[in-house]
Parts: sequence; C-alpha cells; structure tokens
Amino acid sequence: MRSFVADSHFFAGVDPEELTKRFGTPLYVYNEAILRDRMRAVAGMITKYPYTANYSMKANSNTAILKIAKEEGLNADAMSEGEIRLLERVNFPYERIFFVPNNVSDEEMRYAVERGIMVSLDSLDQLSRYGELFPGTQCSVRINPGVGAGHHEKVITAGKHTKFAVSMDEIEGVHEIAKQHNLKIVGLNQHVGSLFMEIDPYVQAVKNLLHVALDFPGLKLIDFGGGLGTPYHKLDGEAAFPIGDLHDALEPVLDDFVEKYGSAPLFKSEPGRYCVAEGSVILGRAYARKSNAGVKYLGTDIGMNVLARPSLYDAWHDIEILRDGKPVTEGQTEEITVAGNICESGDVLARERTLPVSRDGDLVCVLDTGAYGYSMSYTYNTRPRPAEVMITPDGNYRLIRRRESFEDLMSLLCE
Ligand SMILES: Cc1ncc(COP(=O)(O)O)c(C=O)c1O
Repeated sequence: MRSFVADSHFFAGVDPEELTKRFGTPLYVYNEAILRDRMRAVAGMITKYPYTANYSMKANSNTAILKIAKEEGLNADAMSEGEIRLLERVNFPYERIFFVPNNVSDEEMRYAVERGIMVSLDSLDQLSRYGELFPGTQCSVRINPGVGAGHHEKVITAGKHTKFAVSMDEIEGVHEIAKQHNLKIVGLNQHVGSLFMEIDPYVQAVKNLLHVALDFPGLKLIDFGGGLGTPYHKLDGEAAFPIGDLHDALEPVLDDFVEKYGSAPLFKSEPGRYCVAEGSVILGRAYARKSNAGVKYLGTDIGMNVLARPSLYDAWHDIEILRDGKPVTEGQTEEITVAGNICESGDVLARERTLPVSRDGDLVCVLDTGAYGYSMSYTYNTRPRPAEVMITPDGNYRLIRRRESFEDLMSLLCE
C-alpha cells in the first residue's frame, strides 16, 4: 500500500503520536516545506510578463501561513473585512492586497478604500454604490467570462448559473456607471471556479477576459483567478496539476493580447487550494468499530465540523492509518466507512473505502486538508475547533493555533 505520509516525509522526523499527545485530536498538521514549494510553483505560472500570484486566503487564513505567503512574495486576495484584518495582523502591505468581495456593505467597502486597498466590484449595483461613495477613484470589476470550471456545481463561480460577477453582456453598463461617477476602471478580474485539473477551461476563460479587456484602456491589472486543482486521489496515482502546461499555454495568449493592447498590465492569479491543500493532514483517533446492515464503520473524532468538505461537496480525501506513529502499509485491508462524532447521518468522511484493518487507538490521518479545512470548520454539537501545528523544515514543530476551549465557546453568551 502506498503512503503519502512516508513518501513525502510529511512529518519530517516528528512523531505524530507525540504531536497528538501534546495537542490532542483532532489536530491539523502542516508541513512548511510543502507549503513553500507550492507557493513557489504558482509564482512561476507566468514568467514573460509582470505577474504576481495573490494567495487566496479563504482557503486557509492562519496567520502563520499568511506570513509564509508574504515571505514567498505572494500578494493576497481577501474576501471580507475579517480577512483584511488578519492580513493587517501580519503587516501585509496594503498595496499587496486585493479585496474581491461579493455583496458587501458600505462599511466593508469603506474599510478597504480608507486603507488604499484595491477593491473589485462584482455587480453593477455594487459598482454604482461604490461610485456614489467614492467618486473619482480607481477600482476593478469582476467579470463572468462565460466559462465555469470546478469539481462540484457548488464551487463553479462563472458560466451560466452563478451569483458571482458581471456578465459579459453588461459591460456597457460598467462603462456607463464609471462615466457617471468619474470612476477609473483599472483592473478586471475573474474566478471561474475551484478545483479543476484540466487547463483548457481556464485558458478559454483567460482568452474571454482578455477580449473584454481590449475595451478597457489603461488597465493596471488583469487577474485570471484561482481554482488550480490538487490531486486528492494521489494514493491511486493521480497526477499533479500540470502547472507547467498552463504556463506554456498562457504565454502565446498573453503575447497576442499584449500586442493588440499595446502594453502589458500586471497579470495576476488567485490560487488558494493549490498553495495549501497538500501541505496539511488531519490526525484523528480511531475510537470505535461497528457493523450496521453489512456496512463496517470506523468511528473517529474527525467530525464534519472539523473537515466540512466531504459532507458539503462529497469531496474525496485519501486516508491513511497510523499505528505507533507509522503508516500501516502492509497486512490485511477491509472496506470500511469512516465517520465522525457529530449527530448527523451525513457526518461521513469516506464511504466504503479500502483501508488497512484498523484498531482502536490507531491514528486516522486524512490527507490534503490544508485548503478549506480549518477555514470552514465550525462548532456544531458544541465541539471546539482543533489546534493547528506547523512542522518546520528543520524537523521541529510549533503550535500555530491552540485548540478552542469550552470557555471560548461560551464567551459570547450574554447571560
Ligand atoms: C474570487 C475567488 N478567488 C480565488 C479563489 C480561490 O480558489 P481556489 O482555492 O480553488 O484556488 C476563490 C475560491 O472560492 C474565489 O472565490
């Protein structure tokens, strides 16, 4: 049996049992070297023209990871005032932040504008409101390029059925509103969806956006969005996202655009998942086994509140069993459903998965949990959110977020 944990030296010599004894389970564990490696790869997606990758922090907003992104020279895209506040906490320069919200209040827009952060508006209504509040300023507009992509209908954010962005047949309206409020549209951006492994829809969306851009002279930035996939089936040999092919496919498209446009604005992308997904696992404890109507169940403390993706999108995460801190790669296997400890039938991490036969007390290690893992976790059933630990390249580790306490959970109550 293959083991990603072993092949990638994920724990870099640190004993997972030691981590769980110190910090409890469930526990998010990150590997800094893998995070940096993926961030560097994405920074090389476009090399011929001015380019920056904006780390899309909604994927994982732990400040330790934001600091790494900053050190790796990535910019950041924020979706809310809260995300901007986290970036402020790590002194992320305002000029390196791009605010890409959806349906926000005046106050939230103002929070960004007062700090000199570039804002992208994603509807004609929000553009009008922005113009009323801040006439004569610069801003960006999020365009729906008419092409969507992603692993599930809930994460496709462009194309026909989506709440996001200004559609291509509303471009005239953008010009009219800009004129009315003396706004200068200096940026266009898009995001077609999340987790695609094929590059073609992305390249097509880039072409469509660049076509729209020809109608906007003086652009400072064009942002192609994120969504680059990660191989969640790596134990079955799924290949990595072909980022080199994307680089090669984009270059002639950009050449063509720059020639027609007459200059090269700053090109951007907004990857979240690609930067962080593979740099993290969750460790949970195997607490119980049972059989119900012929289906075997392995009960763990990794509930849907800790990792929401499987219950939300039927997402697949590879799983390994660790015994005495080492991956079990030999011996008997069984088909078993892995469930959490939340009072919902949908609280299932993996259905009828072939895994090594586990014992109570083993560690259940869920792979590729760095993106939309902790950032989507919640406290249903009054279960505190887990701690997060970073394994550093020198083989040490440090706590980057403590486990939530019951006092934390009760601290907002007013009686
Ligand atoms: C506007 C925007 N940009 C970037 C991203 C990042 O997507 P991903 O993590 O798939 O790269 C998202 C994800 O929802 C998004 O909505």
